[in-house]
Amino acid sequence: MIIKINNLNKIIKTKTEQKYILKDINFLLPKNKILAICGETGSGKTTLARIIGGFSIPTFGSINYNYAFFTNKTAQNKIKYKNLKAVRFFSKITFQDSNLQFFKQNVWDEIAFSFKNIGYKNDFLTKKIEEVFSFLDFPKNYKNLNPNNLSGGEQKKLLIAIIAFLPSKLLILDEPTASLDHHNRIEVLNFIKKISTKNKTIIMITHDLRNLYFSDYLLFLKEGKQITFTKSSILLKDQNNLNQVLFESSLIAKKDLKSDIFAKINKLPWK
Ligand SMILES: Nc1ncnc2c1ncn2[C@@H]1O[C@H](COP(=O)(O)OP(=O)(O)O)[C@@H](O)[C@H]1O
Ligand SMILES: [Mg+2]
Repeated sequence: MIIKINNLNKIIKTKTEQKYILKDINFLLPKNKILAICGETGSGKTTLARIIGGFSIPTFGSINYNYAFFTNKTAQNKIKYKNLKAVRFFSKITFQDSNLQFFKQNVWDEIAFSFKNIGYKNDFLTKKIEEVFSFLDFPKNYKNLNPNNLSGGEQKKLLIAIIAFLPSKLLILDEPTASLDHHNRIEVLNFIKKISTKNKTIIMITHDLRNLYFSDYLLFLKEGKQITFTKSSILLKDQNNLNQVLFESSLIAKKDLKSDIFAKINKLPWK
């Protein structure tokens, strides 16, 4: 799926002011790539990802998903709900706080829950659960384990596998590696790579600089504004430019502008 964002803005009105949470966002993400949305806390990452996923609407601007077009023109004050429904159907999200997303007492039932919801029954349901479970590559006895007793990384993998096997084209992962230790972070990133071969577009929200190497494209936000949208391989080759972008996004301090961020990130591998 190709995602084209045109002049997307989100304004929140309070009693006293209008605040731009997103201002003039524009980019074109080619088919089935991994995009990392990067920026400090409060820069608008979650808001943008939720809008792209159809979970929230822009104040103005448009998003073209290749075959479904979704816009909100304030002038007409008309939202194309039909298309919004389509977008919600093909986009799936995992939240930063995984355990809020578990409903059941064991992993097997947790997987079953989502597929029952979309009408899977009997043998079809069992087959689907087996398929998801084997993709996860968990030990057999995990079927009976409470999802809340899995490690942080395993919890993320479970949630990501479920949404990847549901009818989905766009997976939005909000900080999937936050608060994970090194081993779990690498496990989850490798798992996301494995998922990305299944014809999915993946949007990963992150403020972990080590994850930059992992994504195909990078979007940097600062206070709702787009600092840059670029192919990772291009930006990561150009140390001065990378430092400048990280500085403008408030992800490094001024004193680090001349330092070898590049080597620093390289020393924190995901591979
Ligand atoms: N519904 C809302 N009402 C008012 N302010 C909001 C709302 N949603 C987000 N914000 C504000 O918008 C900014 C961006 O939020 P968010 O998208 O969650 O940032 P990030 O995910 O990068 O941390 C923050 O300043 C936040 O307080
Ligand atoms: Mg957020």
